[in-house]
Amino acid sequence: MSQETLTITDNRTKQSYTLPIEHGTIRAIDLRQIKTGPEDFGLMTYDPAFMNTASCRSRITFIDGDRGILHYRGYPIEVLAEHCSFLEVAFLILFGDLPTETELKNWVSQITHHTMLHETTKKFMEGFRYNAHPMAMLVTTVAALSTVYPDARAIDDPNNRLLQIKRLIGKMPSIAAMSYRHSLGFPYVYPDNDLNYAENFMNMLFRMVEPKYVANPVLARALDILFILHADHEQNCSANVMRSVGSAQADPYLTTAAAAAALSGPLHGGANEEVLKMIDEIGSKENVPAYVKRSKEGHSKLMGFGHRVYKNYDPRAKIIKRTAEQVFEVTGRNPKLEIALELERIALEDDYFIKRKLYPNVDFYSGIIYQAMGFKPEMFTVLFAIPRTAGWLAQWQEMLTDSEQKIARPRQVYAGHDVRPFLPIEKRSPSW
Ligand code: ACO
Repeated sequence: MSQETLTITDNRTKQSYTLPIEHGTIRAIDLRQIKTGPEDFGLMTYDPAFMNTASCRSRITFIDGDRGILHYRGYPIEVLAEHCSFLEVAFLILFGDLPTETELKNWVSQITHHTMLHETTKKFMEGFRYNAHPMAMLVTTVAALSTVYPDARAIDDPNNRLLQIKRLIGKMPSIAAMSYRHSLGFPYVYPDNDLNYAENFMNMLFRMVEPKYVANPVLARALDILFILHADHEQNCSANVMRSVGSAQADPYLTTAAAAAALSGPLHGGANEEVLKMIDEIGSKENVPAYVKRSKEGHSKLMGFGHRVYKNYDPRAKIIKRTAEQVFEVTGRNPKLEIALELERIALEDDYFIKRKLYPNVDFYSGIIYQAMGFKPEMFTVLFAIPRTAGWLAQWQEMLTDSEQKIARPRQVYAGHDVRPFLPIEKRSPSW
């Protein structure tokens, strides 16, 4: 018998079972044969919050959380951030290999020609309240694209899927920019196809009365690098939502909207906005020790710290810290950086954070750059959602084409009442 097996003895029945181990995992369904009798359903695993469950096989992103390593399709994130454009990385994530020159040229041209929004979508956005959160506008508008593209329901057709993928990657910056302009009461700006992905996004965000928007190249490149860093992160909360909703064969617009909704939460992509609020609350470098103390006492988490997978410095945070210096040469230093650096210094020397392996994550420094570039904190998670769309769509495609996948449907451990006698309304006592 192969060494790659696990032998389990059920002490209830004294019976032993040998299960295969593949890639360091056993199949949960193999446990089902472990029964106390013919009426027994069979053994299950209980894993709230998926702390130790692999839900898929994936070839997209590799993370070694203990060593602080992140690869897309085998390429270290540091190398991609140095040499590639975001759309090049999106191609890599989606199709598995870096594009040739011709492939990249075609891909960029195709994405660029999908940046326009239907006029009804623009009107739809005009209906949002003046103070609507940009992330809520983005989620809602992405879902509303499902009404514009009913053809997207043909998810079994690879050509159709590819068309929707191009539309979503092309339109995401347009929707994001419109949500930003809407919250400021500014007129919407149409895409400019002469510009690259990041420059065009900046054009739609910032252009006022000038006939042609010219982006600062350092800021445009910084934004592009931030997009690369945020493009995918394997089975995080929103990717899991993407796969789960997609497994019911919902169309890609509704599925992406669901993933973006997950991203908006403060424990996930919404953390970058919370970091800025936290730094504002701290107010000055001198107040950092007291804030860290309060956090250790359980009053508040240090936002932008800690990660389910990284138990080391998040490699993306390192690159962001470096990129911040380049941005500050153009914009001037964001005074909030001093507070953030002090927070990091004190936390990384503190036993509480050392013991729990809590390091700065991707969201800790990104907000400081975004703010220096002129974004309001409410836009930070929207800036995360734009590039992550490529990752979500790659995860979605991989799930749909994986013959082992089915509709995602976990089991539960039922902890409620046994069958109870029905009580007529006059005999019931108040529940609360
Ligand atoms: N500040 C203070 N203490 C923390 C923090 C933090 N940011 N994060 C975790 N801890 C503590 C917990 O209280 C817990 O302590 P205990 O063992 O004494 O109970 C221990 O560290 C383990 O934390 P968990 O919450 O169990 O870790 P989990 O893997 O479930 O959570 C998460 C990871 C959600 C990222 C968490 O660290 C957190 O809330 N961080 C702040 C929010 C944040 O920055 N989120 C962005 C993550 S990156 C992304 O999604 C893009």
